[in-house]
Amino acid sequence: MSKTIIVTGAAGNMGTAVRKYLVKQGFYIEAAVGPHRDPKALNDEHTFASQVNLMKEEAAAEFVKAASERHERITAAALLVGGFAMGDLQNTSETDLDKMFALNFKTAFFMVKPLMNLFKQQKQGGQIILVGTRPAITPEQATSTIAYSLTKSLIFRLAEIISVEGKEHGITASVLVPSTLDTPENREAMPDADFSSWVPLEKVGETVGFILSDAGTMLREPIFKLYNEA
Ligand SMILES: NC(=O)c1ccc[n+]([C@@H]2O[C@H](COP(=O)([O-])OP(=O)(O)OC[C@H]3O[C@@H](n4cnc5c(N)ncnc54)[C@H](OP(=O)(O)O)[C@@H]3O)[C@@H](O)[C@H]2O)c1
Repeated sequence: MSKTIIVTGAAGNMGTAVRKYLVKQGFYIEAAVGPHRDPKALNDEHTFASQVNLMKEEAAAEFVKAASERHERITAAALLVGGFAMGDLQNTSETDLDKMFALNFKTAFFMVKPLMNLFKQQKQGGQIILVGTRPAITPEQATSTIAYSLTKSLIFRLAEIISVEGKEHGITASVLVPSTLDTPENREAMPDADFSSWVPLEKVGETVGFILSDAGTMLREPIFKLYNEA
């Protein structure tokens, strides 16, 4: 039986790479795209896409419910939504904090809640894949991206809590920690950088593929530092 994976942020840079890699491997994808994007563009034989505002708790819960009703089992969820903002301590306002908290934490948390319920009901549990960032675990890199780094740091704590609560239910949490992804936006923002030191998007797809493999299901509390040479 083919496995079904939920992918959020599925039309983003990482989401597109992960989705394409998994479809090639024969997985079925329940994809969530953002509130302003047409989901139909992603649909194919292996992909069903929905438009969901994951900053809204109810919308996330409805998406998980609908996806689970379309499949006998959801094997895993790759929760890839997130975003970056500059700002040091003195230049980070309440609005900046709220924005980053909603984008980096609520979008993951609101998915984790219904997923934990679903995975507890499934005999084989499930895997949850989250995305952190290096400045969230390396304070030296966090001083110019305060709201981003602080809100992403909660992702690591959330993964730890999932691991504890999921232990008896076969539920695991992995955290991907990319340095700089080789995306068009990053190339435009840092035209003089050495792009070869960054992380190619297809390598993120392969890493997710490994997490979902039989060997990957043996992992406990893994943190994948996808730093390459950056
Ligand atoms: N880029 C990097 O170098 C880098 C480095 C470290 C960590 N990361 C992390 O890696 C992950 C992926 O990064 P990326 O570069 O692939 O980002 P991206 O291209 O901006 O993709 C993020 C996606 O999130 C979706 N999204 C935003 N708000 C949403 C909402 N309210 N509800 C549902 N979806 C929403 C957007 O969907 P639509 O496009 O459909 O609107 C977007 O496609 C993020 O968590 C990011 O923080 C990235």
